[in-house]
Amino acid sequence: MKSVPGNHFAERLAAYQARVEAALDRWLPPVTEKPEALHEAIRYSVFGGGKRIRPVLVYAGGEAFNVAAAAVDGCACAVEMIHTYSLIHDDLPAMDDDDLRRGRLTCHKAYDEATAILAGDALQALAFQVLAQDPGLTVSAEQRLRMFDILALASGPAGMTGGQAIDLDAEEQTLNLEELQTMHSRKTGALIRASVELGALCSGQVDEQQFHNVSRYADCIGLAFQIHDDVLDIEGDTETLGKPQGSDLERNKATYPNLLGLEGAKQAARDLSEQALEHLAGFDEKADMLRRIAVYIVERNN
Ligand code: IPE
Ligand code: IPE
Ligand code: MG
Ligand code: MG
Ligand code: MG
Repeated sequence: MKSVPGNHFAERLAAYQARVEAALDRWLPPVTEKPEALHEAIRYSVFGGGKRIRPVLVYAGGEAFNVAAAAVDGCACAVEMIHTYSLIHDDLPAMDDDDLRRGRLTCHKAYDEATAILAGDALQALAFQVLAQDPGLTVSAEQRLRMFDILALASGPAGMTGGQAIDLDAEEQTLNLEELQTMHSRKTGALIRASVELGALCSGQVDEQQFHNVSRYADCIGLAFQIHDDVLDIEGDTETLGKPQGSDLERNKATYPNLLGLEGAKQAARDLSEQALEHLAGFDEKADMLRRIAVYIVERNN
């Protein structure tokens, strides 16, 4: 793997993780507010660990376009809310039926299924509320509408939700490489692309060619992210992952290692990470955080 610049990556990652967690705490309803169990379940799932890679991508996308972090906080919260909602629902008995998430009981195990479904629903709505209300986001109303559209497309049937439906159907089928790529790009890639795009759009005015280039970067790392997730389901251990290792095998999921073998899948993820870097060739050092994330995504162990 090509070495990429990016000094103090671990510290910068930790700083952005802490930053989005503080912002999330400001936006989420307090547990003292009724209905308490719903608000507890929301906070339980949002604050139960998590790498916060999507919010970090929003900040890094902003950095590449010279945006101050304060303008990006709302979008960073919105993508993490959508993501956490998708995890809560992904773990439900009707979907992957998993008991462990982010090192703790899944939401439906810690509370109950109805509360978990509602916590997911609430987080989805809250994400759009933050995008509508965030006072730190100083873009035009037209630009804000474009951002809504991006997040809605990434979350809905053309993106994550559609990808999840394909994933569930695929438990009964063998997908070819193209179908598998489509599934991964939708269930995981779409929200990752939206994260980078929203960060870039926080600048108010983007050069459309530059915007296109970061979108293609994000497509590559989004697919690489889910391929590496499939690899970790085989090679990782439950404690480090914070979720059950072997869940995909148990559910007969369509995965990259299934189709390409473990080494083939790892190579595919590394190739995508390299391709992602190529899309950033026209950017200066302000895109170094994005560059470093492309490497992290295929080297992480959780
Ligand atoms: C897990 O996402 C679900 C996938 C889309 C692969 P993450 O690996 O980002 O999970 P957290 O947020 O760190 O828990
Ligand atoms: C989930 O993919 C993608 C989502 C949209 C949540 P996985 O089912 O592979 O995610 P994990 O492995 O449970 O985190
Ligand atoms: Mg799943
Ligand atoms: Mg799952
Ligand atoms: Mg997985």
